[in-house]
Amino acid sequence: MFEELIAEWDGERVVIRHDSPSGAWMFICMHSTRLGPAGGGTRMNVYDTPQDGLADAMRLSRAMTAKFAVAGVDFGGGKAVLAVRELPRGYERRDLLLRYGDTVASLRGGFVTAPDMNTTESDMDVVAERAEGFVFCRSPEHGGSGSSAPATALGVFHGIRATVQRALDRDVEGLTVLVQGAGGVGGALVELLAGAGARVLVSDLDEDRAQGVAANAHASVVPADRALDSECDVYAPCAVGGVLNEQTIARLRCRVVAGAANNQLASPADAQRLAARGILYAPDFVINAGGVFHGIGKELLGWDDERLGRELESIGDTLREVFDRAERDGTSTEAAAQRLADERLSTPTQPRALAR
Ligand code: NAI
Repeated sequence: MFEELIAEWDGERVVIRHDSPSGAWMFICMHSTRLGPAGGGTRMNVYDTPQDGLADAMRLSRAMTAKFAVAGVDFGGGKAVLAVRELPRGYERRDLLLRYGDTVASLRGGFVTAPDMNTTESDMDVVAERAEGFVFCRSPEHGGSGSSAPATALGVFHGIRATVQRALDRDVEGLTVLVQGAGGVGGALVELLAGAGARVLVSDLDEDRAQGVAANAHASVVPADRALDSECDVYAPCAVGGVLNEQTIARLRCRVVAGAANNQLASPADAQRLAARGILYAPDFVINAGGVFHGIGKELLGWDDERLGRELESIGDTLREVFDRAERDGTSTEAAAQRLADERLSTPTQPRALAR
């Protein structure tokens, strides 16, 4: 039942495990190990079919390969999906995570992981009980570096400033920024933007969450179903992937798209659609690298806060390089970023983070 997806995929290895006690499927996709072990978050989600879960893991793991390559961090791309019937709690959750930890451990470091959608640092504490050494971003009480969301938000903030500078030749002060998704990343981003003098609009399916985040930052709430129709300078997707497609791009009323969500483009053609509308797009796998800088930098490379801060700021520099290349080569920014990743993947000599 999974053969067609696997045949079409360009990655290296897929591990599929059916977890009989819970009915969940575990998919671990190792897209590339050319630069190092495959690394990527563990997403827990309810999908219409198991194939949808596998397809999600495949897409996300490919993006991780590009993210690590562009970031210059010595890891390959991976992703795990736990496709559950419903999000488990209590002992059922713990038991599932322990069995998942056994699966991660069986790969002996070929795959390393961290939290992702619907998994937390406490969940990683449980996974690490069985897969010690292969889990990043556990809770600080368990020796981990904790949530990567604040670092991701700061990296996205630097990225938004660089993108706005290129598109509008100014800083974010006085501009209107729509933040879609008021979770860990979106919530922190709202505060940073408000602190820099932007007028912030916040939207979340959970309107109470949006209200709470907005109140702290004097921001305004926009209903989730009307978010894309809001007039703004910058649209920052910080909720789910696939939000940029033929229909939504036609509705956008912004000049810049720059946010944290993974796999924002529904298809590669959507990068051209954005460019054709005169919207400057900051490729997601470039702007949202703050999470990997946080986990790997702090836990493996011994970075202190100052070093992490410099690396997060460098996301703006990388985006400037991507924009230069896109202009020079006459391509979309997505294509330029992918080419940058491909170049680094074809010359894996001294990746930046481990070379220093
Ligand atoms: P989160 O789970 O804390 O927050 C996501 C928020 O989006 C939730 O409040 C949820 O209610 C809301 N949401 C979901 N669907 C929505 C929709 N259609 N419209 C409006 N709101 C919606 O997740 P987190 O950690 O803040 O991550 C946000 C995005 O950034 C995700 O796509 C994640 O994959 C990506 N990302 C996160 C990183 C991190 O370090 N946490 C690193 C790199 C990417």
